[in-house]
Amino acid sequence: MVMTRILYNLYKAVMKPVSRLMPISTPQVISAPNSSRQIISLLQEKKLSRPALITDSFVATTPAFQQLHAELIAAGFNTIIFDQIEPDPNIERIKKGIAITKAHGFDVVIAVGGGSSIDGAKIINACATLHKRPEAIAGTLKLRRRGNFFIAIPTTAGTGSETTLVAVMTNPAKKAKLPVVDPSLVPNVAVLDEAYMMDLPPQITATTGMDALTHAVESYLSEYSTAKTDSMNLESIRRIFTYLPRAFEDGTHDVEARQQMSRASFDAGWTFTRTSVGWVHAIAHKIGGLYGVPHGLANAIILPYVLEFYLETSAPRLAKMAAAVGLDAASETKAAQAFIHAVKDLARQLEIPSHFDCIKTEDLAAIAKAATREVNLTPHPVPRYFATERELVSFINTLQENTA
Ligand SMILES: [Fe+2]
Repeated sequence: MVMTRILYNLYKAVMKPVSRLMPISTPQVISAPNSSRQIISLLQEKKLSRPALITDSFVATTPAFQQLHAELIAAGFNTIIFDQIEPDPNIERIKKGIAITKAHGFDVVIAVGGGSSIDGAKIINACATLHKRPEAIAGTLKLRRRGNFFIAIPTTAGTGSETTLVAVMTNPAKKAKLPVVDPSLVPNVAVLDEAYMMDLPPQITATTGMDALTHAVESYLSEYSTAKTDSMNLESIRRIFTYLPRAFEDGTHDVEARQQMSRASFDAGWTFTRTSVGWVHAIAHKIGGLYGVPHGLANAIILPYVLEFYLETSAPRLAKMAAAVGLDAASETKAAQAFIHAVKDLARQLEIPSHFDCIKTEDLAAIAKAATREVNLTPHPVPRYFATERELVSFINTLQENTA
């Protein structure tokens, strides 16, 4: 075990400069108002004429999407809509999207939706442009070349997919999530327009917002963090604590809350792309794959428990996050504890349960194994490791309701 840890620590140290030197682009940002007009001008400037709009069946009916589509048609674009992306986009549906976009002879993708739609569209674009099968690109650095021009319009403030180099698909037959990681997946353009977010239901606003918070917190605690990611993450954490409750309570009217959450989500996506995430995501990915728990909800439940585990090693950084959200305490440890309480309070306010009700005892070892593998091999440069897999199994067991 000790020898293995030494080897993984070596790997983590080698990957640190690699992560800093890897060329990762930042999308051009188009903001409200008149984002549709700006998209049209950009497409005309780039002489692109056959957009494939990729979304889900709900977003396709929203006023913001329909207005964009109508404006594209009015401007003379030859569009196609593929609106069959589902949560955790499955590989068969993605293959259908590849066939449809290819048949259309698309030259640009406009992905409109939450993380699932943008992720699905990234994979469709890469495979349709580069003539690859989705199975063949699962993994890290399997693409190397960019697909067609890609515009991401997030309708949730959470995954940060509009700026990340990751896309996740699922293989339901194997109950597995298949991440695709490649700098060529970073969108060319991210449209941060709150008009697309105003109809988002409170529960999804809450869970996706907690995903953004988890990105910022895990990125801030990452050993790959830099001065730039630190200041962006503290600002995102402050924004999320201030504006997520408002977006949850009155998201259909509170334009400022939606704008601020949209920026926080983008920034946290940008930072974790450079620093990676941590145990929360590693455990959430396996729980999501096994039981279909939405990604943001799984993160929201796990986050405070992982922060408690980090107290021993990371009190100074937890205290800095406490200060960012306006909490004051007599000592660093007390401030760190206050931040963890504040995360729990926020989740409670957003009506997020404190435990899972789906984790089966017989799956604990598999979850621990998968999470350990993800942390070690990605790598996620976390501030603290579990001494043994058994310790991690018992930690995961405490996340389940009946063991509380
Ligand atoms: Fe996430």
